[in-house]
Amino acid sequence: MLPIPAVGWSPDQRALRILDQRLLPGAEVVRDLVTLDEIVEAIRSLAVRGAPAIGVAAAIGLVVALEADGDGQDARAGALLGGYARRLQHARPTAVNLAWAIDRMVRAAHRAGPGEAGSLLQTLRTEAESIRAEDVAMCEAIGEHGLPIVPDGARVLTHCNAGALATAGIGTALAPLYTAHARGRTLTVYADETRPLRQGARLTAWELARAGISVSVLPDGAAASLLAQGLVDLVIVGADRIAANGDVANKIGTYGVALAAAAHGVPLYVAAPRSTIDPHTATGADIVIEYRDAEELGELPVGVPAWNPAFDVTPRALVRGYLTDRGFLEPPFLPLH
Ligand code: MRU
Repeated sequence: MLPIPAVGWSPDQRALRILDQRLLPGAEVVRDLVTLDEIVEAIRSLAVRGAPAIGVAAAIGLVVALEADGDGQDARAGALLGGYARRLQHARPTAVNLAWAIDRMVRAAHRAGPGEAGSLLQTLRTEAESIRAEDVAMCEAIGEHGLPIVPDGARVLTHCNAGALATAGIGTALAPLYTAHARGRTLTVYADETRPLRQGARLTAWELARAGISVSVLPDGAAASLLAQGLVDLVIVGADRIAANGDVANKIGTYGVALAAAAHGVPLYVAAPRSTIDPHTATGADIVIEYRDAEELGELPVGVPAWNPAFDVTPRALVRGYLTDRGFLEPPFLPLH
């Protein structure tokens, strides 16, 4: 589907390999990253992006940076682990998948303590590969479980990019679309442009068109009119963090789409793997929202500041269903999920 996965290992397994999303759709550039600085910068600058993908990137990145900087020695890698984990975890605050993946890596390192068979670095490598492979499998499962909501002929609106570029697999919100398409269903997809970084126009449209799925791009401000004209059967979006009560943080603009969908009686589904559900965050009000630089808004008059949140929170009441790798779930989400 993609020319290479959005995130994974380099062929020699010594680097984090990403498809640089800053350059899409104009150029398909693959980058191999090894140093912590490069990896943190790739996550911050959205060269690799999307909640599951940054979790996988952080896990693999932690391994390759520790191996390189610790000269392959467990003791040296162990001394660096805590500081590297903290830097990666702070690269982006809203997507819980990042903290979730780093936390798994740190817990695996503790299990590999003295007396355990196998080295620390080998344990971390195995854990990172599990995180990657599980993400691929969770995307496939979301695709299967989502089939009933995308019948033949479905007209679907989505926001931002929650597709293959945002995961190690076939995506979350786009997974049911890929699965339905593979089963011969015909779909019409509308991709919100997704201001200001245009993930919908640049990334969602690129990957769907590449897969042969019919997709049109609309400016964010046109979504309410599209819904009002009865041209959408369902809305499906991804998530960066789902609070225990079901409130959903996702790309800025999702909340507006959810309000407009509710006003016009169109169901909105949130698709996410279990790594995006955060039972330790009670409600959307507790989710830390990332604010980004004014430069992303283009040229502004001198001295005029910007208000540029990267995410918003859609309340549970506006969500028709939570499509996960375990099927449709209902809040409250307890720690077992
Ligand atoms: O700032 P981004 O591009 O990383 O934001 C991405 C989103 O908001 C996605 O919808 C979300 O991470 C889910 S990706 C499967």
